[in-house]
Amino acid sequence: MIPESFIQDVLARIDIVDLIDKYVTLKKAGANYMACCPFHNEKTPSFTVSPGKQFYHCFGCGAHGTAIGFLMEYQGMSFVDAVRELAASMGMQVPEERGHPGGDAEQGSRLRHLSARMSEAQAFYKAALKKSERAIAYLKNRGLSGEAAARFGMGYAPEGWQTLQTVFTDYASPEMLASGLVIDSDNGRRHDRFRDRIMFPIINAKGEVIGFGGRILDQGEPKYLNSPETPLFEKGRELFGLPQARQALRDENCAIVVEGYMDVVALAQHGVGNAVATLGTATTPVHVQKLLRQVDRVVFCFDGDAAGKKAASRALDNALESLADNKTLAFAFLPEPEDPDSFIRQKGKDAFTRLIATAAPLSDFLLRELSARCDLSASEGKARLVTEAKPLLLRIPAPHLRLQLVKRLAQASGLEQIEVERLCGIRGYAPPAPPKAARPAPSRTRTLLRLVLQKPELATQIPFEKLPVDPDRQMLESIAHAVTRLSPAPGYAQLREQLRGNSQENALDALAGEWMDMKLTDTEVEKEFQDAVKRLEVVDQKAEFDRLQTQARQFGRSGLSAEEKARYLQLLSKK
Ligand code: UTP
Ligand code: MN
Repeated sequence: MIPESFIQDVLARIDIVDLIDKYVTLKKAGANYMACCPFHNEKTPSFTVSPGKQFYHCFGCGAHGTAIGFLMEYQGMSFVDAVRELAASMGMQVPEERGHPGGDAEQGSRLRHLSARMSEAQAFYKAALKKSERAIAYLKNRGLSGEAAARFGMGYAPEGWQTLQTVFTDYASPEMLASGLVIDSDNGRRHDRFRDRIMFPIINAKGEVIGFGGRILDQGEPKYLNSPETPLFEKGRELFGLPQARQALRDENCAIVVEGYMDVVALAQHGVGNAVATLGTATTPVHVQKLLRQVDRVVFCFDGDAAGKKAASRALDNALESLADNKTLAFAFLPEPEDPDSFIRQKGKDAFTRLIATAAPLSDFLLRELSARCDLSASEGKARLVTEAKPLLLRIPAPHLRLQLVKRLAQASGLEQIEVERLCGIRGYAPPAPPKAARPAPSRTRTLLRLVLQKPELATQIPFEKLPVDPDRQMLESIAHAVTRLSPAPGYAQLREQLRGNSQENALDALAGEWMDMKLTDTEVEKEFQDAVKRLEVVDQKAEFDRLQTQARQFGRSGLSAEEKARYLQLLSKK
């Protein structure tokens, strides 16, 4: 648990421009800095960093956040890690609030020890590879270059049952067992999990070693042994080679998913740097989401055998919910008995790149899959095709893609498009509404909101009872509430972090584009705010006057109480 006040201090000290400039080259443009957005692919810059307000905002994809948010989104860090990293970069000591046993602080330190242990093991395996003629010969024989092995931090786990004892003085500890590096056998003896194996470290977005895959040198079972899941390592979330692929993913705007560790390494060695592998598990929805956040195209490249086809079906099934109209998924199959490793070594990079470029789009693959299960020469089979497609279609949230599939299904089944839609229980695709002619005048609350975002402390001065009840008012109330909890008065970045997890977070971020270019001084903001509040009262008074006037006209003088009469005259004199 990191105290809230410390988070606010970190945000007050850090300069978001310095931070982001380390990852993305920023160019000054007026009061702000610009760059091509690191979160989506673009040719003209729409990623803006505001030094005054300490946030970034992309007008293209809507990415938005503070320095903390940037590290989380760019590096895939957790909130706490991002705060730690920022604090460390400024030499600030993170005060740990004493949590209860098993609380965040304790768990955080347990995880840090675990990850330190994994990196010590990796260093040991790497050094052991340098010393093992046998392991080096094996890799050479497989055509692997020393450079590629180094890029992936590969190593070798020596023969022998307890070689890690030389690295870890607490070999017998429960923590050692929790790391997955050792196994307790039935007779109670503890030994290394990985023995006489080529080691592939699995590295997370932060660059920490979180697990290993180990390949046997000769024949034997199992061919690959993987780390068990630990608090650091969840197989369904991690991909082998992802951190090493980062630059290539950005350059290519495409990710290639393959089945094996060796495939990733061999592809990288031959100039295809954008490949990643699942860890001996099926592709999960988390995998797909992770990749689609970084690139617009994901190609699954699996072996041409039955197992590869099955893996592709699973991947397809797990990807449906993540589909969007601006993203493409495709499926490439290798001629049997090749895998990406053997294919690129024999046929070269160009042949492999062609295979990826001409991969079957998801709609083709899906249709092919479904058609294989139905006899399309009979009308029964055609109807069955549509029935089988229905549950899949309903899971696709992307309207254009779904329409495209409906059309393909209509073609293949010989049914009318409308018929297919009816059978699948989907309404026809409605084209997006034409853009509105003119933007409505900003509401009173919206004006206040824009001003308050520039000087959050103003929120506490808002006469809320005078505001119409709308989402903007709710947001203003959340801000006022957050401000009263913070002292000294927060800037935008501090406020934004205080509202992390708030239900209106996204609406708030979407608004940033509207006010980030306002160049008002503090005094000007204050003045405009007071004016806006005054206008509220005027509007309020006008409504009151109208009401009293109608009442007076309807019921004559007796229609107003003495008090109302006095108020009516007062308002009348102000006109
Ligand atoms: P493959 O059997 O296709 O091996 O397993 P490969 O990657 O081509 O390996 P080489 O070329 O023979 O060295 C593909 C992936 O499935 C997982 C591993 O992640 C492997 O990279 N796997 C395979 C296991 O987890 N355990 C196994 O016993 C076999
Ligand atoms: Mn292989």
